Amino acid sequence: MRCVLVTGAAGFIGSHTALVLLNDGYKLFLLDNFSNSSPKALHHVADLSILTKEELGERVSIINGDVRDSALLQNIFSRAKSNGEEITSVIHFAGLKAVGESFEKAIDYWDNNVAGTIKLLQVMENNACRNIVFSSSATVYGSSKEKALIETDPISPINPYGLTKATIEKMLANIAGCQSTRIAKQYSPRGWKIACLRYFNPAGAHPSGKIGENPKNIPNNLFPLINQVAIGTKEFLTVFGKDWPTPDGTGIRDFVHVMDVAEGHKAALDILISSKPQLLIINLGSGKGTSVLDLIKKFQFSTGIDIPFKFSSRRQGDSAISLANPSKALEYLNWKPKRKIEDICRDSWNWQYKNPMGYK
Ligand code: WQD
Repeated sequence: MRCVLVTGAAGFIGSHTALVLLNDGYKLFLLDNFSNSSPKALHHVADLSILTKEELGERVSIINGDVRDSALLQNIFSRAKSNGEEITSVIHFAGLKAVGESFEKAIDYWDNNVAGTIKLLQVMENNACRNIVFSSSATVYGSSKEKALIETDPISPINPYGLTKATIEKMLANIAGCQSTRIAKQYSPRGWKIACLRYFNPAGAHPSGKIGENPKNIPNNLFPLINQVAIGTKEFLTVFGKDWPTPDGTGIRDFVHVMDVAEGHKAALDILISSKPQLLIINLGSGKGTSVLDLIKKFQFSTGIDIPFKFSSRRQGDSAISLANPSKALEYLNWKPKRKIEDICRDSWNWQYKNPMGYK
């Protein structure tokens, strides 16, 4: 059976990916320290899966722990091996991911994100496990150009969060024996199978509304904030800037449904397992831009709920446009998003409506 360790499995994208993998026959070791997530997410994943209780008992192990704990990581690999089910791949989500926070807590971001990945890679190497799908981010591109970003574009992160992601990509390329992180597909002379997936703006929720985006503290991202206005816990949305060089003056982003992103991880894992050693660095985006004002209109249309808003000045670190050229994802992963922005609005509201306090 294909055994996979998923780090950060209880997070937004981790939980949706765990569900997709479970329903595709994988055996999963789900690791999370629950510092920014809830064990309930994994219980709901189990409920949503097509597996019986007995099959779940055989196919899912939930481990409460930190990816920086080498002894714990080794114990997970050893236990699996002693049960005759070797862990052959890892999907690595665990890490801190708030752009603004990364300025105030830069050391924590370097420790969690970079040191955590080093510990994980050491244990993987010691257990002859050389398949990894890494959760990267479009933030590595830095202040984006006024065009769709492609994988060969310059890497110039403008915040500590993006710098940790770019550093990890460079580390993975180096370990794979590859020279660059500006090429979408390279042969790995050192026998690693690595996929770095650069997310644009993941949003939405599983259509059941049982799992979704559950920011532990005050959210920074647009979708949870719009949903808080919709549910009434926030009086109005603040739109950061109306003087951007865009058609309506507000920021444009590439929103991609979290279920599409989860399916993109399965596609990458399946390709790595079935192919020769290689390093893939791929954009996961829709290639379609939606401005903040556009999104407010689409959310109102999709849900029938009015979203009052007020303009303020621009937010530090923001750029006018962040948009993917997703052609390499189609070429190398045979992946493209199936869901539209209206599906994202509908599913994110369905999650928020059914879980006004998230997993609390
Ligand atoms: C989107 C747009 C804001 C809030 C970040 C990370 C990225 C990824 C996704 C992890 C911008 C505007 C927002 C608000 C607003 N995370 N906005 N009012 O900054 O594009 O990307 O989250 O991988 O790495 O950088 O997402 O949702 O914060 O902002 O007007 O209250 O909405 O100015 O134009 P962002 P976001």
